[in-house]
Amino acid sequence: MTMERTVRVELGPQSYDVHIAPGALAELGATVAALGSATGAVVITDSNVGPLYGARAVESLRAASLAASVIEFPAGEVNKTLATVDSLLDDLLAVAPPIDRNTVIVALGGGVVGDVAGLVAAIALRGLRVVQCPTSLLACVDSSVGGKTGVDHATGKNLIGAFHQPGAVVVDVETLTTLPREELCNGLAESVKHGAIRDAALLDFIEAHVADILDCDAESMCELIGRNVAIKAAVVADDEKETGNRAHLNFGHTIGHAIEVCVGYDAIRHGEAVSLGMIAANRLAVSRGLMASADANRIERVLVSLSLPVRRGGLDADEIWAICQHDKKARGGKVRMVLVGALETVAIHDDITAADVAMALGALGEE
Ligand SMILES: NC(=O)c1ccc[n+]([C@@H]2O[C@H](COP(=O)([O-])OP(=O)(O)OC[C@H]3O[C@@H](n4cnc5c(N)ncnc54)[C@H](O)[C@@H]3O)[C@@H](O)[C@H]2O)c1
Ligand SMILES: [Zn+2]
Repeated sequence: MTMERTVRVELGPQSYDVHIAPGALAELGATVAALGSATGAVVITDSNVGPLYGARAVESLRAASLAASVIEFPAGEVNKTLATVDSLLDDLLAVAPPIDRNTVIVALGGGVVGDVAGLVAAIALRGLRVVQCPTSLLACVDSSVGGKTGVDHATGKNLIGAFHQPGAVVVDVETLTTLPREELCNGLAESVKHGAIRDAALLDFIEAHVADILDCDAESMCELIGRNVAIKAAVVADDEKETGNRAHLNFGHTIGHAIEVCVGYDAIRHGEAVSLGMIAANRLAVSRGLMASADANRIERVLVSLSLPVRRGGLDADEIWAICQHDKKARGGKVRMVLVGALETVAIHDDITAADVAMALGALGEE
């Protein structure tokens, strides 16, 4: 069996392929060249990923006769800002040979790089093509597909951005071997989410391969990422601009996001908050008679096996409720939450009350 796979994201004239393989970075140059009319590429990466994989990306680009340079910015969510975009634009407009409308941006890194470089590509010279090369599991299974780009604002996360679909996505699973273990688990929370909302067989796969996945075994990672990308691609193809079913991807994110705001973004990883958010949402789904307790327990077991948190004491229900009401996705003061019924059966509920949130949070405080 070959490990390599390609998943097509169907978006009419903006369709693209996600290519997943060990060593796929070696094919980056050919992928950029295949977009047509490119004479050069600029790799945007962060200070952790650049030293590890920047040279490999450049080598592949030059082997395909493309001019190539690398621009780096300091790693970390704190740098996902317009100030970073501004400084990258300065660097981009100073590279030699100079960029033109045919230059391709390569986003090499985790979700922060994908979001920042994607936004730079969306606005530089009124729009350059971008190829996403995700190197964190979260970026592989989630942020590199779908075309959302953006940066944070002092008043909230991801408030400034643009939709800008990539021309291609290149996933080299070998790069995941240097990813810190906690970052791997962070991405796995989104994987469990995909399984719960769209593909119970993905949960079976994760349960059967926990050790291989945590070991970053190449074959398991290709399979895991391939299945996740297929789910995300199908949801995005169905609803590119999030007017309907794309919101299903927010499963675990309403309360999860409120927990992040409440305890502080520095104090909890996104995937950890989403893990807690899914446990809380499932409590509400079970109490409404939508979900069987056995399914809720199963999701909890899978999260625990991946070292993701399922309990968190000391959360103030009133504070969480207040934050939920200010969610970017709330409409007219009503809180919306994605609840999973039977696995793969999802609905958006817009009648969530303070009492519901308090009850859901109860699941996080139990022994
Ligand atoms: N655009 C979207 O649709 C979308 C979806 C989900 C999340 N996001 C965004 O993604 C971001 C989170 O992404 P993330 O979890 O990848 O964070 P990240 O980009 O900060 O990466 C996590 C850490 O791992 C390092 N790293 C990445 N790849 C590595 C590798 N192969 N080896 C060693 N170190 C490596 C990074 O430098 C960083 O320190 C958030 O800003 C979030 O808002 C965007
Ligand atoms: Zn998420």
